[in-house]
Amino acid sequence: MTTNTPKRYTVTAALPYANGPVHIGHLAGVYLPADIYVRYLRLQNRDVKFICGSDEHGVPITIRAKKEGITPQQAVDKYHELIKQSFADFNISFDIYDRTSSKIHHETASDFFLKLYNDGKFIEQTTQQYYDEKAQQFLADRYIVGTCPKCGNENAYGDQCESCGTSLNATDLINPKSTLSGEPPVLRETKHWYLPLNEYEAWLREWIVDGHKGDWKPNVYGQCKSWIDQGLQPRAVTRDLDWGVPVPVEGAEGKVLYVWFDAPIGYISATKALTPDWEKYWKDENTKLVHFIGKDNIVFHCIIFPSMLKAHGDYILPDNVPANEFLNLEGDKISTSRNWAVWLHEYLEDFKGKGDVLRYALCANAPETKDNDFTWKDYQARNNNELLAILGNFINRAVVLTQKYYNGAVPTRGELQQYDKEVLEVLAGMPMVIAAHLERYKFRDALSELMNLARLGNKYLADTEPWKLIKTDEERVKTIMNIALQISGSLAILMEPFLPDSANKLRAMLNMEAGMWANAGSDDLLKEGHVIGTPALLFEKIEDASVEAQVQKLLDTKKANEMANAVVEPAKENITFDEFSKMDIRIGTILAAEKVAKTKKLLKLTIDTGIDQRTVVSGIAEFFNPDEIVGQQVSILVNLAPRDIKGITSQGMILMAENADGSLAFVQPSKEVKPGGTVS
Ligand code: 2FM
Ligand code: ZN
Repeated sequence: MTTNTPKRYTVTAALPYANGPVHIGHLAGVYLPADIYVRYLRLQNRDVKFICGSDEHGVPITIRAKKEGITPQQAVDKYHELIKQSFADFNISFDIYDRTSSKIHHETASDFFLKLYNDGKFIEQTTQQYYDEKAQQFLADRYIVGTCPKCGNENAYGDQCESCGTSLNATDLINPKSTLSGEPPVLRETKHWYLPLNEYEAWLREWIVDGHKGDWKPNVYGQCKSWIDQGLQPRAVTRDLDWGVPVPVEGAEGKVLYVWFDAPIGYISATKALTPDWEKYWKDENTKLVHFIGKDNIVFHCIIFPSMLKAHGDYILPDNVPANEFLNLEGDKISTSRNWAVWLHEYLEDFKGKGDVLRYALCANAPETKDNDFTWKDYQARNNNELLAILGNFINRAVVLTQKYYNGAVPTRGELQQYDKEVLEVLAGMPMVIAAHLERYKFRDALSELMNLARLGNKYLADTEPWKLIKTDEERVKTIMNIALQISGSLAILMEPFLPDSANKLRAMLNMEAGMWANAGSDDLLKEGHVIGTPALLFEKIEDASVEAQVQKLLDTKKANEMANAVVEPAKENITFDEFSKMDIRIGTILAAEKVAKTKKLLKLTIDTGIDQRTVVSGIAEFFNPDEIVGQQVSILVNLAPRDIKGITSQGMILMAENADGSLAFVQPSKEVKPGGTVS
């Protein structure tokens, strides 16, 4: 761990695969904490580069392209732009958002491989790998699924089980199956290059297990220790694929670098693209390198990439890898394939100008130590009960009263009472308290302290009641309002990493220059006589209807998924034509419908069958409103023996079609048929 303040920082955020839009899980787990950290460092005047970009290689990309019927290049072009825009819309303040299909990245990754190759750091091995005879290709990574030998997850990929995080070789999978053809694969010989991780085991143990015990998060440290304790195996760093960085050595035609070999090098190539000065951000021991990632990326950033950097020899190692756990959505795992997500670009369509609200709700509920759940109810409560009721309310009171009493000029502070001194003392200590949490990657705690400062401001005004006191003690009110304004000014600085849009608004309201972290906490931030700007609302109430609409959207998704995944029942045993013709099915028209008293499911229908008008009791009340079905045509089995249902004689049965979600629909003629028409 770097103990002294480092000379500079290189902060990376996992390169998202350019195979789909980004959602709240990405934001909460990786990009938001990274952005808060970097904004804080900039306010501390530290030299920092914030690096990210799209991960545009590997099987996740080719699978997506195939699904959409486009080329991999078209797929990454499309999603790179979409993802980049979403990050910009949420004020994720990268110094560069690059992409791994760029020339500079191909060269950097290629050179990195060559250096290791020439230094004899790889093992070259011809082994049996899984091959799909139907698709005529080797099955790398996500082209093969099977049961994880560690945790039993039946959908583990050929390179990793996302359920338990274990990194795998395809041949480790139990019951492997090609995702291209669905067939079990065969084994075929192929040559690849391996990084012998086993040779780095002792060094990794010393560096992580002994060296980072206290400072890495327990979830990260624990996973690393357990992998190292289990023993590491050589890891193939090349693949038989046609999309990626070509392996730059002879005899490797048709092979590319493994995506997890080239992607982290993307951090280096993006820094190169950003500045000619890139080397000091990667090669100087006084640089602190921090990787922000989700928990499924731990093995790659803590074991494999550091081993690559170590093998290369010229690079620094990460000082910390503050990986987060996962965010669930309304009690269910976020899933792109099931469309169970809140997509960032869609959120902003529905909640225009409310990027900060989502940033706040996600940080307050970030999955820092365990998986957490995002609910729309919590989102609404965070906005209405915290941002609006605490922070917004305090600022509004301070600014409105200053305008009202002093035409916006910061009043002179008189003699301080004990309460004033206590408040100013807490204010003075707050930047350090928040900074201490941020330096330790405790973003929830940092945000909660920020809100405590706003709470303190609110309480101070509620206790001192300047709006009452103004009638009896104008001098005292000047002191109170001066102090309230100092708190407001500090909030404008301290909230910037978390709520950048709102911090800008507040600064405009206070007519304040952009301050640095060191300016916050001062009792003299807004000078006496300084004229503040006009009041505006920082936050708005979020109504029930807005969040209910989001919940409904998710319910609709759930329903659509159930429909799509519903298993169709197998056909029943054959019957003879004679058996079928015994059934007399006619078209009838519903003449009347009413609910059967004291039942939930039953409707009593009067039907014109063409033969007669008869009563049928049918279990459809949950799906049909009696008033709305009168006049509709239905198919009715007229020669079913009558039976008593709840004291009513039911003469026949309406034919219904059952949907995958259990809902019912009438079996109707496609055009009107005279009642009595036969169905055959
Ligand atoms: O899990 C992912 O989305 C990967 N694309 C992350 C890559 S991080 C880095 F190494 F590039
Ligand atoms: Zn597993």
